[in-house]
Amino acid sequence: MLKKLIPWKSQNQPSSFRDQIMQLKSQEVPSHIAIIMDGNGRWAKKRSLPRVAGHHEGMKVVRKITSLANEIGVKTLTLYAFSTENWKRPKMEVDFLMKLPEEFLGTFLPELVKENVRVKMMGNTDKLPAHTLKAIEKAMNDTKENTGLVLNFALNYGSRVEILDAVKQVLNDVENGKLDKDSLSEETFSEYLMSSELQDPDLLIRTSGEIRLSNFMLWQLAYTEFFFTDVLWPDFSEEHFIEAIEVFQGRQRRYGGV
Ligand code: FPP
Repeated sequence: MLKKLIPWKSQNQPSSFRDQIMQLKSQEVPSHIAIIMDGNGRWAKKRSLPRVAGHHEGMKVVRKITSLANEIGVKTLTLYAFSTENWKRPKMEVDFLMKLPEEFLGTFLPELVKENVRVKMMGNTDKLPAHTLKAIEKAMNDTKENTGLVLNFALNYGSRVEILDAVKQVLNDVENGKLDKDSLSEETFSEYLMSSELQDPDLLIRTSGEIRLSNFMLWQLAYTEFFFTDVLWPDFSEEHFIEAIEVFQGRQRRYGGV
């Protein structure tokens, strides 16, 4: 049963909150959690605000959930921040989304460094504006020695393109004699993906009531547990995150066995 929580503060956690965290940590914590952060636009619309206000509120939620994930002992948190399809949105919204990593990292990077969080990015960097890439590269560089949570932003990411690029690379390597066709296995293929340094997600969370994957980590999610919630991303709280992990802990993962 979930108890009402106050907003998360590292130095000021109520005992019920600490108890919940202890309880979660006493069981298997998902090592890699991936989140499709959906519902920012609807959150804003409900308040008669511009869509970008929802994205901005969503950015604050990223900060809270990152800290909590790190605290619980999650090793990797992958966040779908911008898809290869999101370029179709109005220019003003795209420009805003491209500025969010700068604002997020400009505000929170020192705290992330202190919390031992390592920032990474997964996606095609070619089309990203220079200012976005610069902020991400600085964060990756400043946190490269950190050993805590890996905060992995999926930015200009699309799974089908990722898989196609991997296939092309495999074909090249076979042609050049670097790879023996018969030795190609699931493990070898995974090394050609953008997530090559990460384990597959154990838990996928999607907010806002949409029940689909939207071209997100299609290969990597093969055996992942899914948690869908109607909560819109800007309303997604520590309580909701804890609930998702509790649900995960109640699942039986059989990987096709019995
Ligand atoms: C989907 O909601 C959300 C996005 C396309 C952007 C997600 C970005 C954030 C939550 C902020 C990211 C923060 C950092 C630090 C990079 P939607 O706009 O499709 O919502 P809707 O379906 O209600 O319209």
